[in-house]
Amino acid sequence: MLRTHTCGELRIENTGQEVSLAGWVQRVRNKGGLIWVDLRDRYGVTQLIFEEGSTDNSLLEKAASLGREFVVQAQGKVLERTSKNDKIPTGDIEIKVESLEVLNPAKVPPFIIEDETDGGDDLRMKYRYLDLRRNNVRQKLQLRHRMMQETRKYMDAQDFIEVETPVLIKSTPEGARDFVVPSRVNPGEFYALPQSPQTFKQLLMVSGFDRYFQIVKCFRDEDLRADRQPEFTQIDCEMSFVSQEDILHTFEGLVKHLFREVKGIELEEVKRMTYADAMRLYGNDKPDLRFDMRFAELNDLAQGKGFAIFDQAELIVGICAKGAGEYTRKQLDELTNWVKRPQIGAKGLVYVKCNADGTFKSSVDKFYSNEDLKEWAEKLGAVPGDLLLVLSGEEKSTRKQMSELRLKMGEELGLRDRSVFKPLWVVDFPLLEWDEETQRFHAMHHPFTSPKKEDIPLLETDPGAVRANAYDLVVNGVELGGGSIRIHDRLTQQLMFKHLGFTDEEAQKQFGFLMEAFEYGAPPHGGIAFGFDRLCAIFGGSDSIRDYIAFPKNNSGRDVMIDSPSTIAEEQLKELSIKVDIVPKV
Ligand code: AMO
Repeated sequence: MLRTHTCGELRIENTGQEVSLAGWVQRVRNKGGLIWVDLRDRYGVTQLIFEEGSTDNSLLEKAASLGREFVVQAQGKVLERTSKNDKIPTGDIEIKVESLEVLNPAKVPPFIIEDETDGGDDLRMKYRYLDLRRNNVRQKLQLRHRMMQETRKYMDAQDFIEVETPVLIKSTPEGARDFVVPSRVNPGEFYALPQSPQTFKQLLMVSGFDRYFQIVKCFRDEDLRADRQPEFTQIDCEMSFVSQEDILHTFEGLVKHLFREVKGIELEEVKRMTYADAMRLYGNDKPDLRFDMRFAELNDLAQGKGFAIFDQAELIVGICAKGAGEYTRKQLDELTNWVKRPQIGAKGLVYVKCNADGTFKSSVDKFYSNEDLKEWAEKLGAVPGDLLLVLSGEEKSTRKQMSELRLKMGEELGLRDRSVFKPLWVVDFPLLEWDEETQRFHAMHHPFTSPKKEDIPLLETDPGAVRANAYDLVVNGVELGGGSIRIHDRLTQQLMFKHLGFTDEEAQKQFGFLMEAFEYGAPPHGGIAFGFDRLCAIFGGSDSIRDYIAFPKNNSGRDVMIDSPSTIAEEQLKELSIKVDIVPKV
């Protein structure tokens, strides 16, 4: 072994011991006759000392020539420090070095490898292997490791079997585009990378595995955001002979286990809300429940008073921002401009300040009396000192805009504390969703989700009103997981495909294998998948999942470190029977 101890291990009790350490040079301080070197590894930092007089000259020269990030081995004696550093666990001691070996010199790194770095995002991504040397970056991956171990522990204890499913498969419709892989031995044919192992886990239920899970990479070619990567990881699960209630119970258990074991937090009971209520009260199917600020509809109070914009609106909806009644004209103008940005798309914003003396000041005083505004305030549960914010327009888009404004106000008023966790099951999702672009219904979750029995007759008359046995786990406004009770008989599955606009031939070609499996004794089953990267980010208190992935892609789906995607050789293309007409950008 090149070392007897790690760089985070030595304490005052080790004083006097001969030790050997190995690691990276984080910093060299040279005061002429005295040189200090901070030696770093995964476990911590230990100070090495070289002193003129007691250290021989060639060793001093060697120490003086060390550069940042050199890899060295040092051997020497543990001394108690005269001036101790209580900021690090090894701060009571230092190593008086007797021999030093440079195991590998290093070029000057492109950014400082310490918690506070001078490296920008792009540079750190290009040199991700150096970024990963930084404590605060590595710690995020250590958190991920812990989450993974605890997940396996819980699932194993609950009798789930981890099964690996293939990565070269064919298209599964989860709503995104597939990444495809050409097959050399089958010219003109392609595999698809799994958007999830959905069909395989259902087949495992037909095989009688009863309880399956897998921590698995999934691939989706979709627009990227802070909480989306083209390849990401799921905790994918499926169970047989269960009701929705059994699934919610089992996985509430998993989430509670993780919070307890990884964060030391006893998670509160997971609330439940129907999709319809979530949309009505928060304009969002993943409401952030760290704060209240519920919507109230004001149509009956605000229409018919001569304000044309409201009179023509399908929906008038308000929120009450507690304690924001002192917002200045400038702040209100800023909010108005914010909702009018194209990303939000509102036409304007109406505000009502609830004054301390019980009167009101609004941007629509011309149309509404104090009495009128008082009614609005009452409906929104406002008291003096509060601020009402009101949006109007077409129902769906207005709810969406108000949901964004609610989150912004939550942020501005400091109500979205990252150390508070508010979990929620959103249940009773619609089975189908109308898509304007293609003018047809899509499965809101996926085509294997079962409709609620009592809603099946509506499939013929009002498909949009059919509710599904589908549920999402939401924490602090982030969709951490989603699943459903599945269809497990051929006829219902065929009916579902028909409603999704598949011809019998198309359904047979794409999913014949699954429907056939359903004819060989398929148990009732259901499951869920959690976004593992999102789970880690929530635990770490971050909005971005990128930090929790060792080698993530950037916002254009590129890995800038290995420079991928990239072109491939003409020869390789020929072998794969692929003709490329596009001249790739260089
Ligand atoms: P769904 O599509 O809801 O369900 O995905 C499950 C969870 O995966 C996470 N997720 C993502 N995380 C990072 N980047 C992405 N691009 C991304 N896309 C999804 C989310 C989401 O809640 N097969 C079904 C599950 C089931 O029915 O059992 C499925 O994949 O946190």
